[in-house]
Amino acid sequence: MIKVFIAGATGWAGSELSKGVYKTQNMELVGGLSRKSSGKNLAQILGLGNAEIPIYSDIDTALSEVDFDVLVDYTSPDICKKNTVSTLKKGKKVVIGTSGLTSEDYSEIAQVADEYHSSVLAVGNFSLTVVLLQKFSEMAARYIPNFEIIDYAQEDKIDSPSGTARELAHRLSQVQKPAIPISNDELVGEKDSRGANLDGVQVHSVRLPGYVISIETIFGLKDEKLTIRHDSGSSAEPYVKGALLAIEKAGRFKGLQRGLDTVMDL
Ligand SMILES: NC(=O)c1ccc[n+]([C@@H]2O[C@H](COP(=O)([O-])OP(=O)(O)OC[C@H]3O[C@@H](n4cnc5c(N)ncnc54)[C@H](OP(=O)(O)O)[C@@H]3O)[C@@H](O)[C@H]2O)c1
Repeated sequence: MIKVFIAGATGWAGSELSKGVYKTQNMELVGGLSRKSSGKNLAQILGLGNAEIPIYSDIDTALSEVDFDVLVDYTSPDICKKNTVSTLKKGKKVVIGTSGLTSEDYSEIAQVADEYHSSVLAVGNFSLTVVLLQKFSEMAARYIPNFEIIDYAQEDKIDSPSGTARELAHRLSQVQKPAIPISNDELVGEKDSRGANLDGVQVHSVRLPGYVISIETIFGLKDEKLTIRHDSGSSAEPYVKGALLAIEKAGRFKGLQRGLDTVMDL
């Protein structure tokens, strides 16, 4: 039985995962984190019957009162980093679903995981079809040296670029740093119009009403181009299966791993 604690258990993604964990035979949902619902019963809030699943407002109290094996975090970047570090320091495993953590944040988290001999799996997108987009993009990046990323989302998404785009940029940069024919210093006009440079990869974030979440890797060669695109629907259901797999696999390595495919047989 894997005891799972979910930070952000009452949110859009966390509540769907909480229901998924609750229904999974070899997992037990033992608690959740939320400021507004602190002190309440998560089972009651999510309509999960008569179970008693406490909700806490901060991770330190939860760590001292609840016995759990894996923390899944679906909150916001600042609180996620705190939750992750505190939990790793107790030798427990962490699955990060929250987006917006930077490469520097991940370096710090990796150090703590190593120091405390624990493990953390960070996944910018738990959808299995997004994992395929990542894989196909990595394959293409081996052969095509010019590529950029476009990330689309609704107008009120606060993190930019998205966690999916950050993770993709990081992964593609490990394959090869894309060729950037004109350096920032040589550019004429508004330099920001070329987007953000993440790990050497240009990333452009579009935030408009009418969009849900989409991502494109665009590859250009002379007289031809390749676009690899993924579009999400509006429910959090596609993320549940991947997150459950991440919980299962979280203890099977040490240190930090990024991306669901690192624990999949692809
Ligand atoms: N990796 C993936 O596949 C994936 C999929 C979906 C979403 N995400 C990411 O997951 C994160 C959450 O997304 P969402 O749409 O579920 O957000 P959401 O609906 O706003 O939910 C956020 C949850 O976190 C809790 N929370 C926020 N700040 C907190 C704090 N300081 N202390 C304790 N609890 C806190 C909220 O409860 P209170 O407000 O009551 O505190 C709520 O339960 C985002 O970064 C999103 O991009 C990732």
